[in-house]
Amino acid sequence: MQIVILKDSVEVAKYGANIFIKQLINKPNSVLGLATGSTPLSLYQCLIEANKAHHVSFKDVTTFNLDEYLGLKGSHPQSYRYFMNEKLFDHLDINKEQTFVPSGDALDPINACLDYENMILAKGGIDIQLLGIGRNGHIGFNEPSSCLMSRTRVKTLTKATIEDNARFFTLDEYQPHLSITMGIGTILDAKKVVLLATGESKSDAILATVEGALTASCPASALQFHQNVVLVIDDAAASKLSNRDFYKHIEIENQKLRAHLAQ
Ligand code: GLP
Repeated sequence: MQIVILKDSVEVAKYGANIFIKQLINKPNSVLGLATGSTPLSLYQCLIEANKAHHVSFKDVTTFNLDEYLGLKGSHPQSYRYFMNEKLFDHLDINKEQTFVPSGDALDPINACLDYENMILAKGGIDIQLLGIGRNGHIGFNEPSSCLMSRTRVKTLTKATIEDNARFFTLDEYQPHLSITMGIGTILDAKKVVLLATGESKSDAILATVEGALTASCPASALQFHQNVVLVIDDAAASKLSNRDFYKHIEIENQKLRAHLAQ
């Protein structure tokens, strides 16, 4: 695992956005795996600015989102499709027909999950997957106890996740308790994974992900198995890591090596 510890959420967003920008410069028709939640919002803003400044184009990009609430249409303001349109896609030169989010209103959700997996395969797999992390260590909506090899499927949300996400729903608004989410196995198949975490509230989940045992109790710990994963986190999210100084030292050494190779 590459662990990049930065001062604050602004630096995290810029660093994360640069990884995506470099990816798109190297491969303009990349397949991106995208995430919702508040953490990636500033990264998306950086991508929008880079696109508007013509530093990067999304016209040949395909995207697959991690998850969606089951029971919400894409036109529902709390759906993840709506979120992605509003926060990112509407501001890019992207072909929206090449942006995929699991169908929250699928008549046959089980088959919709299989279709989603097949669509990812048909596009050649995900080149780079963006992740946030839940306070309980979930990635996508893979809650604790999720199979570490799981594929896209219907998942029941924990009480903790429902409470964490209640802030997005008004009091009289229906908040789904079920979701469709890429599985942990689906995520691990991405060629590269970038996980962002900011704030003290994520420090226990980051501790369990990086220094805890590989366990379904912390779904993000499965990333210990991935060969190309980078965690971009701020000091607050890193605050409980016992080897924090070592991870910072590794990054300094990596930077020196990159500078040397670039000469
Ligand atoms: C939701 C999403 C996750 C996201 C998590 C954390 O549950 N399904 O993909 O990582 O929220 O969200 P936030 O970034 O708002 O803390």
